Amino acid sequence: MPEHDLVIRGGTVATATGVYPADVAIRGERIAAIGAGLAPGRTELDATGRLLLPGGVDSHCHIEQLAASGLMNADDFASATGSAALGGTTTVIPFAAQHVGMSLTRVVEEYHAAAERGAMVDYAFHMILCDPRPEILHEELPPLARAGHGSLKVFLTYDRLRVEDAQFLDVLEAARLHGQMVCVHAENHGMITWMGKRLLAGGYRAPRYHVPSHPRLGEIEAIGRAIACAALVDQPLMIFHVSTAEGAGVIHRARGEGRKVWGETCTQYLTLGARDLDRPGLEGAMWMCSPPLREPADQEALWWALEIGALQTVSSDHAPYRMDASGKLAKGENAHFKEIANGMPGLELRLPVLFDAMVSRGRLGLEKFVELTATAPARLYGLHARKGSIVIGADADLALWNPDRLVEIVQGPRHDRAGYTPYAGRTVRGWPEIVLRRGQVIVADGALQAPSGSGRFLPRTGGPAAAPLGRPAPELDPARNFGAQLRP
Ligand code: URP
Ligand code: ZN
Ligand code: ZN
Repeated sequence: MPEHDLVIRGGTVATATGVYPADVAIRGERIAAIGAGLAPGRTELDATGRLLLPGGVDSHCHIEQLAASGLMNADDFASATGSAALGGTTTVIPFAAQHVGMSLTRVVEEYHAAAERGAMVDYAFHMILCDPRPEILHEELPPLARAGHGSLKVFLTYDRLRVEDAQFLDVLEAARLHGQMVCVHAENHGMITWMGKRLLAGGYRAPRYHVPSHPRLGEIEAIGRAIACAALVDQPLMIFHVSTAEGAGVIHRARGEGRKVWGETCTQYLTLGARDLDRPGLEGAMWMCSPPLREPADQEALWWALEIGALQTVSSDHAPYRMDASGKLAKGENAHFKEIANGMPGLELRLPVLFDAMVSRGRLGLEKFVELTATAPARLYGLHARKGSIVIGADADLALWNPDRLVEIVQGPRHDRAGYTPYAGRTVRGWPEIVLRRGQVIVADGALQAPSGSGRFLPRTGGPAAAPLGRPAPELDPARNFGAQLRP
């Protein structure tokens, strides 16, 4: 009787801290041994010439999500997570999105049901809070936190989603009490509204005007304000989808001052730019996302921010809408940029495009690639070491990469349902050829082998945000702060 279920031999293991030749043995769903000369397995895989990476952890993606505008994402859990697996990602953290008036508990139940039906990779949820009324924060949130929902997202912009600063503080304080990470979409709503009106009044309607309508100053201001709010209640904060050099700079400085703040950017902000929107008619809508794509100098600054640790994760912000009446063109062929859904597909190509831009082109190296795309998001969102690392005892989520394979990305449908890719026209070097999730081969030779609904929910704490329950924020302790100030 062989000791292991599967042994992967002859590959090069890549982790966030080292790259070395080793065999990997799997027993059941977990990694059982790493080393040379491992005992035989019931099955064996030859990984000669291949890199063995932990399956990617995409900690920001929108799946089967209803936008505040009433538009539904193009993907369901099966199509989105199938496309993720084909691109080497084996864990996703999409959203359970509340809208005004909704019960958060109900929302989470609905997203659970959708994921149980469709998911092919393992998943957790960030809960979007746009209506943080007292019963949500004090009655619904505590049991959800105990059930393993370790993070929240709030928006500082978007008409039907945003919270005011005082509501944001309520969310931060509640999250602190329950040990949850808070993630924020940080852009200044007033600036976006004002710029949008000015541009439209001037007759500037094309998709490319989406870029100036989200001024970079709006990101810079909102990141600073969000960090200040989080500092007031001493709550850890993740700044989502940082797009500007200055935004990354604000985070870098705050971290230097000891603030508990982390930052994410996305593959598109590193590899695409504002110029991609500059196309005839509505074609540029394919590259519309929020915050918008920026300038080459921003790309350079974001790479630098990743290198020095000012930003820690690279996600996809997969938000797929088709280029037809069900999606981006819902308001017709004459729509102006404010009437076009924001977001682009990215779950499938996040890792291949980034691997090419980073590892194949000699930027930052393979260890850093693993850290940004798997190990760091797993750590920050409370999934370490079960996910995101190749260590004994971890889930056997692995991607066998051919680092030399050239793949031409052509325009047209991929495995999600957006029907297009923003990355068409480039040839990438490096591709995940075999993908395992909990020891099962779920992708081989470009074919998906995972049944819908075979992904599992991952209950978790809030990563670094997890604190002893009931700890009051020092600034809010009346005896220590407000109380003293109020004494005559
Ligand atoms: O444009 C984007 N990214 N849409 C998705 C929603 C968000 O703010 O992340
Ligand atoms: Zn966002
Ligand atoms: Zn998003």
